[in-house]
Formats: sequence, structure tokens, C-alpha cells
Amino acid sequence: MLKEKERKKFFIESYGCQMNFSDSEIVASIMTKEGYGVTKNENEADFIFLNTCSIREKAEQTVRNRLTNLKHSKTKKKGVKVGVLGCMAERLKSTLLEQEKLVDLVVGPDAYRDIPNLLEDVSQGRKAVNVLLSREETYADISPVRMNQDGVTAFVSIMRGCDNMCSFCVVPFTRGRERSRDPQTIVSECQDLFKKGYREVTLLGQNVDSYRWNVTSKGVLKNPEQPAVNFAQLLDMVAKVDQKLRVRFSTSHPKDMSDEVLHTMAAHQNICKYIHLPVQSGNSNVLKKMNRGYSREWYLNRINAIRTILPGCAISTDIITGFCGETPLEHADTISLMQEVKYDFAYMFYYSERPKTLAERKFEDDIPLEIKKKRLQEVIDLQMQHSYTSNQKMVGHTFEVLIEGFSKRSDDFFFGRNSQNAVVVFPKQASLKIGDYVKVKVDDCTKATLIGKIA
Ligand code: 5AD
Ligand code: SF4
Repeated sequence: MLKEKERKKFFIESYGCQMNFSDSEIVASIMTKEGYGVTKNENEADFIFLNTCSIREKAEQTVRNRLTNLKHSKTKKKGVKVGVLGCMAERLKSTLLEQEKLVDLVVGPDAYRDIPNLLEDVSQGRKAVNVLLSREETYADISPVRMNQDGVTAFVSIMRGCDNMCSFCVVPFTRGRERSRDPQTIVSECQDLFKKGYREVTLLGQNVDSYRWNVTSKGVLKNPEQPAVNFAQLLDMVAKVDQKLRVRFSTSHPKDMSDEVLHTMAAHQNICKYIHLPVQSGNSNVLKKMNRGYSREWYLNRINAIRTILPGCAISTDIITGFCGETPLEHADTISLMQEVKYDFAYMFYYSERPKTLAERKFEDDIPLEIKKKRLQEVIDLQMQHSYTSNQKMVGHTFEVLIEGFSKRSDDFFFGRNSQNAVVVFPKQASLKIGDYVKVKVDDCTKATLIGKIA
């Protein structure tokens, strides 16, 4: 290992989904094992990595703008090398090196173990690329270097890739085939986190409901000596690590979310009562064109199952407006579905055509941008009302809150979340610290936050 002074340092910045933030922690682990030092100050870095997102055109534009800005910091400190990692690296491959002269290194999501080798080339002035996708890589044995420094909440990746082929989505092309991680390594990682003082894990996958270990898609055991493990069973295993370890997960898929998962959630108080269940559209014809694998009725049946098995469970969603050929009536179905479900929270987007996807090949991106945006605004306005009502309903109730840090506005207040994932702010008390659980009575709220006092 090199002495601190000689150690080359890297700075890593993540864009996009939680999976990318989690991947950056894997990259940090691979780099520190090789003797490189992580820094939070880009001005002292020898290598700057951007872990990028391709989900929408805008996400890629943000990274391109950042690369343009970096040109200045590069001239500021001669010799600093820039790497593009993640989905944009996978999508654009070596063309990134040609288009963006500043980029020295391009590495796709399945090739992070190769970064130290690639950096040897880069250090000698060559450009390096590895964008091979894998059918096996899950980084199961790598223990991530935690970059979110609250020391209380952590992401744990349980699977990679996606096989669903939703027609609008670039993820199957950038992250490759779906594969699940060995459950024992997941449980050990969670045990280790708990021992280090962490009190919440979020299990991550593009579609956690299709988590599957030791069994083929046809239901045959790969190793007959060992049991198969599905997502409900994995949840149960993780929930048993400790009663005081909160368990969250994301993302669920409406076509695969089983009652077994809901019953497992009901059986463990430490599995948080919050489900992110992206609907995308409230119209069955649009859902069919999106290749989502369910209808409006099927989706509403899943919502009904959540309401029945898990009363009080919060539900959030993702919505896309202005998908190819979406008529005003089809859009109205999204609005009416929102009115029916009354989501606690939503992530909302207008459709952005992505190269190579099924939609790009099969349908015309024919809804004018102003209409896409107008429909999006309608969806956002309605969701604002629903989110506010959802918060108002919590006023007067007492919740168990995990203290995650100090409020952004004032160090005299703690902030945390309840099981339903609502953010709660309350005056701090000297006897309590970050990582403690506390009962908080909510006596007021804004659109985004619950405000309360220790009960
Ligand atoms: N355009 C707009 N939104 C998209 N999403 C995925 N692909 C696109 C696209 N091409 C949204 C979906 C998904 C979320 C992660 O991003 O709603 O659930
Ligand atoms: Fe994309 Fe659909 Fe897979 Fe989600 S489930 S990553 S939207 S293809």
C-alpha cells in the first residue's frame, strides 16, 4: 500500500437512480482495495469519475454539461483524468471518447472490477474502455465503501439488470440481463451494517419481485442440495437480521408483486410499510404499448391487495405523460387512476424517446412537447394535492421515527422518516442521537414534511 502522500486520489459523483449511488460505493471499494484514496474534494483528485444515467435525454444532458464544466478544473490541475461510468458509458461506448475529448476512461456497469487495470493505461496517457456486459456479475463479494456518511441508512443491491423490456426504457440495454445476488452475501452485508451501527437497509433492484436464487426461470433447482429463495423469502431473511434494522426495498413491479411479499411485510414490524409501485399510465392500451405486462384492472387489483393486507401502507408511483400516440382520453385515464389510488408520493416525467428501445423502433414520438408538458403539469398539480392530503392525514398520530440527521433548516431539530417513508422534523433532545428510534407525535405538516414533538 502506498504512503498517504503518494496515494493517488479519486473523486466520484453519481447521477440518476439509487442503484447508481450504490454502484459508486462498489467502485470506491474496488479502488481503495487497490490503494487509491477517496476524496470529497474534486480539486485534490487525480481521477474524477462520473457515474452516469441515460434514462431520459435530460439526464444525459446534465452529464454533458458537467463534462463541459470539468474542462476548467482539468486545465486547473494538469493531468487529472476523467472517467465516465454507468449507463451513459454503456450506451455510448467509445464514441464518448471521440465526442468528449476530455474523457479518458469509459466503463460500463458490469466492468467495474477492471477499473484498476484500465487506470494503468490511462496513467500512461492512453484512453481505456470496457463496456462488456455480464450474465453473472453481481459484485456479491464486494463490501461497498459507504459514501452517504449518515452511518444509519444504506443501500444493498440484491440484483442487477432487467429483462422486462418496457418499450420506453433504455435500462435493459445499459444494464444488461437480470441476475440475482447470493442471498447469504446479502444477509451478511446487512448483519455487518447493523454491527457498524446502521439501522436501515434499502434492498435495490430494477424489479425486486423477480429476485430468484438457485432456480431457473422454469422452476428447476440449480443446486438440488440447496433451497430456492424468492423475494418474499429474502425479505424474511433480512428482516430477521435484527428487529432494530429497518428494511425497505425498491422497485416493485405490478405484474410480479405477489401477495406472499405483502404477507411477509405484514409479519415483520421492521419491514417498512411503503411500496413504490410504478404504474406509468392509467390506460390499458398505453400500458400494452409500453409492454408493461399488466392492465389498469390488474394494477388496481394489486393496489387493493396492498390496502387489504397492509392497511396504512404508503404507496408511491412513477408516471409518464405523452407516450407515443397517447390520446386525451388515455391521458384522462391516468388522471382518474391517480384519483382512485391517491398516491402518497409520485415521480412524474414526460416521455423522452431513447435510442434503440422498442418504442423508438415501433412507434412515432408524436405528442408535441407542449402537450407532453401540459399533461405532466396536470399530473403534478393533482399529485401535490394528494401528497398534501396524505401528510394532513398523519397529523395527530404518533409514529416511530428513525433519527437520520439534523434538519436542513436548523441544528436544533432532528429529521427522520416514519415507516411510511414520510419525512418528520422535530426538536432535538440531548439524550437522543442519530440512529436512535423515537416516538414522535405529528402536530403539523407542510406539503413535503411532517412536523412534530417527541411523544
Ligand atoms: N421517458 C420518460 N420517463 C422514463 N422512465 C423510464 N424511461 C423513460 C423515458 N424514456 C421513467 C419511468 C421509470 C422511471 C425510473 O423513469 O417512469 O419508472
Ligand atoms: Fe426499465 Fe421496465 Fe426494467 Fe423498470 S422494469 S428498468 S422501467 S425495463
